[in-house]
Amino acid sequence: MVSPRVALAPKVQTAIAAVLGDGYRDADPVLRPSQFADVQVNAALALAKRVGMPPRDLAAKIVEALDLDGVCDTVEVSGPGFVNLTLSDRWIDSLLGAVTVDERLGVPAQTPENIPIDYSAPNVAKEMHVGHLRTTIVGDSLARTLEHLGHHVIRQNHVGDWGTPFGMLIEHLLEVGEDSDEAGLLVTDPNAFYQAARAKFDSAEKAEPPGSAGDFDVRARARVVSLQAGDEATLVHWQRLVDLSKAYFNKVYRTLGVTLTDADLAGESMYNDMLGAVCDELEAAGIATVSDGALCVFLDGYTGREGRPVPLIIRKSDGGYGYATTDLATIKYRVAELEAHRVLYVIGAPQALHLNMVWDTARKAGWLPDEITPVHVQIGNVLGPDRKILKTRSGKPLRLMMLLDEAVEVAQGVIDAARPDLDEQTRARIARQVGIGAVKYADLSVAHDSEYVFDLERMVSLTGNTGPYLQYVVARVRSIFRQAGLDPLAQRAPVAVAQPAGRDLAKRLLDFPDVLVAVGSEYEPHRLTGYLFELAQAFSAFYESCPVLKAETEQVRQSRLTLSALVLRTMVTGLDLLGIEAPEQM
Ligand code: ARG
Repeated sequence: MVSPRVALAPKVQTAIAAVLGDGYRDADPVLRPSQFADVQVNAALALAKRVGMPPRDLAAKIVEALDLDGVCDTVEVSGPGFVNLTLSDRWIDSLLGAVTVDERLGVPAQTPENIPIDYSAPNVAKEMHVGHLRTTIVGDSLARTLEHLGHHVIRQNHVGDWGTPFGMLIEHLLEVGEDSDEAGLLVTDPNAFYQAARAKFDSAEKAEPPGSAGDFDVRARARVVSLQAGDEATLVHWQRLVDLSKAYFNKVYRTLGVTLTDADLAGESMYNDMLGAVCDELEAAGIATVSDGALCVFLDGYTGREGRPVPLIIRKSDGGYGYATTDLATIKYRVAELEAHRVLYVIGAPQALHLNMVWDTARKAGWLPDEITPVHVQIGNVLGPDRKILKTRSGKPLRLMMLLDEAVEVAQGVIDAARPDLDEQTRARIARQVGIGAVKYADLSVAHDSEYVFDLERMVSLTGNTGPYLQYVVARVRSIFRQAGLDPLAQRAPVAVAQPAGRDLAKRLLDFPDVLVAVGSEYEPHRLTGYLFELAQAFSAFYESCPVLKAETEQVRQSRLTLSALVLRTMVTGLDLLGIEAPEQM
């Protein structure tokens, strides 16, 4: 175990047990990094209350009982009863030695859990909007991180591939022809296709006298009925529509470097067969009741204006099922069939009410056992320069692919200016990695539930807390090894930290496992971006005061090379868990 806090915990527990008795062996040692010490022990405060002892006295007794020979240089009581530990350089060196030879850089493999993650979830025949961009990026990073921690992640792309609009969409597709340019719009500009279908429907519906503008509306409605009845021919056309949309989603996913594939599609249509049973079961259990012809669930604590209860409608008065019914079937499926230990929903913040009502209903029905806590990873808005939800760009409706192309273009300008010496092809490749990395980093570095302004110029900047800055630091370490003619992955010489900059860098390297564990339990990728940014800064400070290749002795040079190699491995692993590529050079 290489994380200082994890390594120190049993030692502190032993000391606590020595002072208070064996019954306290399992007390949480509460170890934290602090401004004043490498590691701070916070246990005395809570324990003092329990045993009725002044906290500083208890802290002093714990210090006496602590055996930290060779581990800490100083151990002292501070403040209201903290214990401040200063790690010895040699202990840091030995921990780093363990990380150096560890493929996983000290990151523990946790007891595997089944974790379905619901993310991305765009809608068929609709443009992916920036909200989808964000759930896709955040969800993918969580999927990668939880997988890295040893879990069995089951990606669930809950695409909107069912519902009444499919009648008009199928009819429109049939009219224009499945191989036509118009049908091709589903892959390049899905909103244009959708709007054309909608326009036809509306003008047919509103025509006076009725029928004077054709019967598109009548056919569209009939088509919905055939679709819901499972009519074979209709399903073939529906599938064609879904396939074209899949091609569009996959184009976005590939451009973004997102891990979602067709195998992860678990759209709304998948649950069709279960919806009837969901309603029947809830009705039979008395959880759902008919109100104004609709089957509804009324839950305690959900009231609207004037204290009127807000229903969760699971079957409309026309017999149709909706979004809520599908999500009820979904949670049931994830618990029963996917055998989920945890269920993550990476979805827009406004859907919190919907999700909570669905989960509460599922709990009542016994589909969601108490030990499973579903998590809503709330996604905040992306704003334009006017601080309104980003919906258009330069007056035109926002097309996600265009936005990504623009990011690459801006990055191209930055790279062309910074590296005119590289050939065009190399510069283009780097520009793609930097442009996409910049967008993803900007998204991940903000708490997922707060909003941020989409500002390409800032995102692609080579300085500040940006993706390109981190990529640049990685490239710089790589260039050190290129110059030295050495393979960073084979660099295993012992580290001997001496200078403060080296010590600070070493300590940060040792924090990596703790950070990943926290991301995996708090679902906050911005903790990882923050960590990597600080690591990059620590490396820059180290590199300024400690020349690597021109070090005074071979031993020092080797030690600094090992530290640099660890920075490289940690940064590349961390960026990969964010879904960001690290260019060879920049
Ligand atoms: N398709 C929905 C939308 O675009 C998101 C679905 C989220 N997942 C879910 N299980 N409800 O808003």
